[in-house]
Amino acid sequence: MKGLRICATGRALPRQIVTNDALSRRVDTSDAWIASRTGIRERRFCCGEETAASLAADAARLALERAGADPGQLCACITATVTPDYASPSVSCLVQQRLGLPEELACFDLSAGCTGFIYALQAARGLLLQDARPYALVIGAEQLSRITDFTDRNTCVLFGDGAGAAVVTLDQVPYACTLGSRGDAAPLWIEGPGPAHPVIHMDGQAVFRFAVEALPRCVRTLLEQSALRGEEIDWFVPHQANARIVSAAARRLGLPLERFYQNMDRYGNTSAASIPIALDEMDRTGLLRTGQKVICAGFGAGLTWGGVLLTL
Ligand code: ACO
Repeated sequence: MKGLRICATGRALPRQIVTNDALSRRVDTSDAWIASRTGIRERRFCCGEETAASLAADAARLALERAGADPGQLCACITATVTPDYASPSVSCLVQQRLGLPEELACFDLSAGCTGFIYALQAARGLLLQDARPYALVIGAEQLSRITDFTDRNTCVLFGDGAGAAVVTLDQVPYACTLGSRGDAAPLWIEGPGPAHPVIHMDGQAVFRFAVEALPRCVRTLLEQSALRGEEIDWFVPHQANARIVSAAARRLGLPLERFYQNMDRYGNTSAASIPIALDEMDRTGLLRTGQKVICAGFGAGLTWGGVLLTL
C-alpha cells in the first residue's frame, strides 16, 4: 500500500502577538488562570491585510519552495479551515491565485474542525492515487480571531490565527490513517454562514471530556493498524488545544510527555492550522529527521477526530 510522505512544510503566523495580559485588559481573566488551565501564554491575531488566505498562501509558498516542487506537478490544493475569507471562492482558490498556480488543479476547502488537516492529508492521498502528477498541497489555515466573541472569557482566551502547509507525495513508506466523526453541535459550534456574525460557542468541559478520550483512541488505532508499539514512534504531534488535554492523553497511553510536541504556549489553539504549524516548527528547529515515525492526531468541532502515522 502506498503511503503518504511529507516532502516539505511551511508556516505563516500573523505579526501581531497578543499576550494573556493583553487579553485580561479586555475580559475578566488573568495570565495565571489562562496559563494554568490551558498552557497558553500568547497567540497571534491577524491585523491589516492578513487573513486566512494570505497566511495560507505564505505558508504554501514556503512549502513549495522547500520541496523544490514544480507547481505543474501538483494535482490538488486542499485547505482545511473553518474560517475561510469567503464562503466562495475557497481559500484554496485564493492561494492558487496568489501563487499563480496552474489551472489544471483541483482547489477546494474542507471543513472538519480542528481535525481538518488530518482529513485533508487523507483526501490528498486519495486524489494522488488517481493522478499521474506526484504532488499535492495540503494547508491548514485559520483566522479564528474573526469569529471569536471577545466578551466571552470561556472561549476568547483559547484561540489564535495562523497557517501551515505541506507538499505531500505517495511513497512506499509505512502509513496509517484513522478518521471519525459524531455529528453533534452541542459541545462546539460556529454560528453562520448566514446573516449572523459567525461566533464560536463551546461547552469547554464537554469538549475536554471528548478530547481526552478521542486523542488516545486515535493513537491506539494507528498503532494497531501499523503493528507498531508506542515506543517506536519518535514524535506525537497532537492538535494544540490545551496542554492539560495533551498531558491526559500521554498519561492514558502510558507514553512520555516529552515525545508530545507542544507549542500552544506561543500560538494558542489555531484549529486546523495547529498540526502543520507544529510540524514546520519541528522541522525548522531540527527535531525531525528522515526515517522517523510521527503520529499526528486531532479532534474538534463536528465532532470529528482523526490521526495519521507518517514516516519522514
Ligand atoms: N478566566 C478566568 N476564569 C475563567 C475563564 C477565564 N478565561 N474562563 C472560565 N473561567 C471560570 C469559569 O467562569 C468558572 O468560574 P465559576 O467556578 O465561578 O463558575 C471557572 O473558571 C471554572 O470554569 P470551567 O469551565 O470549569 O474551567 P475548566 O477547568 O473546565 O477550564 C477550559 C475551561 C480551559 C475551557 C477547559 O474546559 C478546556 O480546555 N476545554 C477544552 C476546550 C478546548 O480545547 N476547545 C477547543 C478544542 S476543539 C477545537 O480546537 C475547536
